[in-house]
Amino acid sequence: MTTGDHSMADAAAMRRALELATRGPAKGVNPRVGCVILSRQGELLAEGWHRGAGTAHAEIDALSKLAPGDAQGATAVVTLEPCNHTGLTGPCTVALIDAGVARVVFAVADPGDLSSGGADRLREGGVEVTGGVLADEAEALLDDWLFAARHRRPHITVKWASSLDGRAAASDGSSQWITGSAARADVHRRRAAADAIAVGTGTVFADDPSLTARAPGGEFFDAQPVPVVFGRRPVPSDAAITRHPHAPVFVEGADLAVDLRELQRRGIRSLFVEGGPTLASAFLAAGLVDELLVYLAPTLLGGPRLAVGDLGVASIEGARRFEFAAVVRLGDDVLVVAHPVSSGAARSSTSINEGN
Ligand SMILES: NC(=O)c1ccc[n+]([C@@H]2O[C@H](COP(=O)([O-])OP(=O)(O)OC[C@H]3O[C@@H](n4cnc5c(N)ncnc54)[C@H](OP(=O)(O)O)[C@@H]3O)[C@@H](O)[C@H]2O)c1
Repeated sequence: MTTGDHSMADAAAMRRALELATRGPAKGVNPRVGCVILSRQGELLAEGWHRGAGTAHAEIDALSKLAPGDAQGATAVVTLEPCNHTGLTGPCTVALIDAGVARVVFAVADPGDLSSGGADRLREGGVEVTGGVLADEAEALLDDWLFAARHRRPHITVKWASSLDGRAAASDGSSQWITGSAARADVHRRRAAADAIAVGTGTVFADDPSLTARAPGGEFFDAQPVPVVFGRRPVPSDAAITRHPHAPVFVEGADLAVDLRELQRRGIRSLFVEGGPTLASAFLAAGLVDELLVYLAPTLLGGPRLAVGDLGVASIEGARRFEFAAVVRLGDDVLVVAHPVSSGAARSSTSINEGN
């Protein structure tokens, strides 16, 4: 084959590998990965995909469909750089080399701190390696997994509802409900899109939230975020979160970076932080916010219950800068979506349509 023939065949096989990848689970610790194995002449020999943590990786799944020796001189086309470490399964690099694969084509480099380095290992083993084929498509497919792997933490959305004068509760602590039904329905849709939803113990004591994602009629959405409670105080044994479909996760919150890393290790790629003000302020002060959702109600509450507390900003030069990504009218309320300026932390796409 000429180089031109290679690149057309590689792209066509990668498109198929991307389709295969979508058969895997969209959530969890491991990414969705697909693999196509082509003969020296470019004929399809085998296909594989990954079915989730603890099961065969896509390359191994594809190789398992071949008899010994069949992959000699073959090309493996994989949506993610083959892994180079022994986890619940062995390194795919070694399996590909042992099978006699001559070329490996992949779309996106593996950013995992343990699993990366596969391309170098393959080259050391005498395999010709090409990366970046249909990289944009693979980036879109692996969006939230890649974000979490690159940042070593979940993508973080901080949300609050406030009055026009920036209060998150009335003076007595009551905050249900500041905004109307359209805004609350929007929050529930976004909860369902997140892997986990977090509150501080203060909100559990004040509001006893269920942290489920529900349609306006009260029915549960199919996807339910894992409830996460930040804080040291034990929550009441009969708290509503104890009846959540997922067991609640409790973290102390003393070191947010450590806690977030642990959540990522558990397969949580996106975290929806619903407050209250103390926890939201801690995330903001630590610069651990990738998206801000502020639901503004046309009311005034006055008093001490500010939506955000001290952020360590002493003067205007130290202001935390965000840029507006969308402003959406929701019934009588307004949703402002903002991203930190030049964070580079935005995901390549969002599953929520801002345009309505
Ligand atoms: N308008 C809204 O959108 C909204 C949303 C939620 C709540 N609220 C209102 O907010 C009020 C409760 O506010 P709140 O500020 O007390 O609740 P909170 O932010 O939910 O909880 C505060 C607690 O979080 C824990 N925590 C864990 N990690 C932390 C960290 N790194 N930094 C600081 N705290 C950390 C601490 O608990 P420990 O002491 O246990 O360690 C702290 O006391 C209620 O009135 C509620 O109705 C409003």
